[in-house]
Amino acid sequence: MKSDLFLGGQWISSTEKMNVLNPFDETVIATISLAGEEHIERAIALAGKAKKAYASLSTGDISAILMQITRELEARIEEFANLIVLESGKPYRYARGEVQRGIETFRVAAEECKRIPGEILALDWTEPGRGKKGRVEYKSAGIIAGISPFNFPLNLVAHKIAPAIATGSPILLKPSSSTPLTALLLADVIARTNLPEGALSVLPCSRVTGQKLVEDPRINVLSFTGSPDVGWKMKAQAGKKKVVLELGGNAAAIVHKDADIAATVQKLIVGGYAYSGQVCIHTQRIFIHKDKYAEFRELYCQEVEKLRAGDPSDKDTRYGVMIDEKNAIRVEDWLKEAEEYGAKIICGGERKGALILPAVVENAAKGMKIWDEEVFGPVVCLDYYSTLDEVIDKVNDSRFGLQASVFSTDHEVLETCYARLEVGGMIVNESTTFRVDQMPYGGVKDSGFGREGVKYAMMDYLEPKLMVF
Ligand code: SIN
Repeated sequence: MKSDLFLGGQWISSTEKMNVLNPFDETVIATISLAGEEHIERAIALAGKAKKAYASLSTGDISAILMQITRELEARIEEFANLIVLESGKPYRYARGEVQRGIETFRVAAEECKRIPGEILALDWTEPGRGKKGRVEYKSAGIIAGISPFNFPLNLVAHKIAPAIATGSPILLKPSSSTPLTALLLADVIARTNLPEGALSVLPCSRVTGQKLVEDPRINVLSFTGSPDVGWKMKAQAGKKKVVLELGGNAAAIVHKDADIAATVQKLIVGGYAYSGQVCIHTQRIFIHKDKYAEFRELYCQEVEKLRAGDPSDKDTRYGVMIDEKNAIRVEDWLKEAEEYGAKIICGGERKGALILPAVVENAAKGMKIWDEEVFGPVVCLDYYSTLDEVIDKVNDSRFGLQASVFSTDHEVLETCYARLEVGGMIVNESTTFRVDQMPYGGVKDSGFGREGVKYAMMDYLEPKLMVF
């Protein structure tokens, strides 16, 4: 298990240490080095050198490096899956799925690096441009800082690093303090390639030290995935750098009267409770047409009762602990608050340590945190509606707008929702948590700024450069 800092290609031990815990049994699984300001200083200096080294690599060289990473990940898939289980408490079935997605993310980058756009512009359609043309190429915007969350310790790190390599941009990555080991293992994979020295540093560090990544003017792009409050604060502190924010939401699903209720329930069980709801696009609010409400409610609760919590390393476990007890207590408090204001927990919600039983809530409404805020836990609120206008207004009556689902096969319903839902992505007949890694992923309103999905993230890591001739 890697426990040192990966600083521009070298493994370095530091004096400041931190224990990494297994969320399932709270045992210490590793003691890792933490970076100080001096390590970030060195990483920035090395990244500056890597910018020059990248210039000597061809597109073919970069694509080959990315493909080598996919092959190595494929060969070590079990090692990665088991490590994700160990440090995040994510059930094995989801952890393995995440590694599969991480492989795809690098594979997509190996393709997309061949398609960085460029154009020749006619400039002579205004008089001062007579006799001139413009050539536009997209060049790396410079040094990237990536800050990633605990919930996808591999794939959300891959979504920072793969576009950086694909665009020839050196990157300093601060992984989540809860799940740094998978990011360090990925560094071990990448260290075996011909990536220029300094092109990647993986630096677990405290939030205070990590603030240098936000504020240092030599860093050109900050890409942050995490909680909305932290993200927007960072944007205000980031100075002149470009900022990309993948934040959270309180994702809604609309279940229309023509939906296949049995199939929809299965999908929204995954949406609501996979990895105990610790997913930015977790299905937090489900709006069901009033004619189907009773049927949906009954089936949904039956399926929720079947979710037995278990050891995440067990291949049959579908449900488990949250990342830590502190977060489980927060969710418990939010549920209590909702009850005080008139909500009814119709199923689950009890807490034992870091485990919260999957909760279904009725009568939740504006003014309650489980409705207004990102719950990032296993809580799903049910509500009903009569008209499409009414439900679209309800979904949009939120400060967030990441992804929403619509369950219907009625073309007019889908087009109306697509036109009017204020979200980054509308998913048809799949859970709000549907994501494949080449699609644009990100939100509007408080859910973020910019998009991931390798091609889209690459555009944020690039700047157009013009030649007039
Ligand atoms: C997230 O929680 O932000 C990412 C969700 C995903 O990649 O599936």
